[in-house]
Amino acid sequence: MGVVARRSRWPVVVPSVDPVMISARRPLGLFLRRALGAPGTVGAVVPSGRALVGALVAPVLERVGRPLAVLEVGAGTGPVTRRLVQELRVGDRLDVVECDPAFLPVLHDVVAGARCTAQVHGCRVEDLPGGRRYDVVVSALPLTNFPVTGVRAVLDRLDALFAPGGTLVRFGYLGSTAARVLVAGPGEVARHREVQRLLDVRGGSRRRVWANLPPAAVVRVQAPAGSW
Ligand SMILES: C[S@@+](CC[C@H](N)C(=O)[O-])C[C@H]1O[C@@H](n2cnc3c(N)ncnc32)[C@H](O)[C@@H]1O
Repeated sequence: MGVVARRSRWPVVVPSVDPVMISARRPLGLFLRRALGAPGTVGAVVPSGRALVGALVAPVLERVGRPLAVLEVGAGTGPVTRRLVQELRVGDRLDVVECDPAFLPVLHDVVAGARCTAQVHGCRVEDLPGGRRYDVVVSALPLTNFPVTGVRAVLDRLDALFAPGGTLVRFGYLGSTAARVLVAGPGEVARHREVQRLLDVRGGSRRRVWANLPPAAVVRVQAPAGSW
């Protein structure tokens, strides 16, 4: 959660790293090492904080009755996975996809405590085998770092993974387009704009989460009940 500074005229929410992240069980150090080692793939400096995790799992919290099949893509050190494991019940299914092998032992530990059927897949989502379909897909992929062809491949794959009427939740960091315009060359700015266009044409409702480092926009896309 962020800290509210009360002395200023307007309350200012100062994003903070969730203190429970800095513990042996939630390996912030591992995340930082991989963020430095593979910045384009990891795409963040710290794991998602509690407020962002809450926004990402909202469709699971809102479920009515029937069992859910949930896919988490880009799990990292597992802040979203932990919350999903807490919320999902006997009869539900959780598949967790993460392409960086360094994160897999942590993720296996997290899903070991699940009441639902849970499996970790150490691969890129583009290569995820099987014809399973999901009611909820939570994506933490840093798509705005990817080449345009990579984003198309991921979005095509995600489209094929939805159950009719399913929900996709994804996020991006606020101000990333403006930041790139300031520091990147024209080719990189054009790539970023095209990726953003591919994401925008898919529509969805947006919710800003200020109490995260950095603040993020969570986008929620509902697939049509018949087909996607
Ligand atoms: C921004 S981090 C998010 C980590 C975590 N879910 C969180 O919210 O803190 C993105 C994660 O996606 C993973 N990733 C990137 N490309 C991927 C792909 N094509 N398939 C699966 N995972 C991918 C990275 O290794 C990284 O762990």
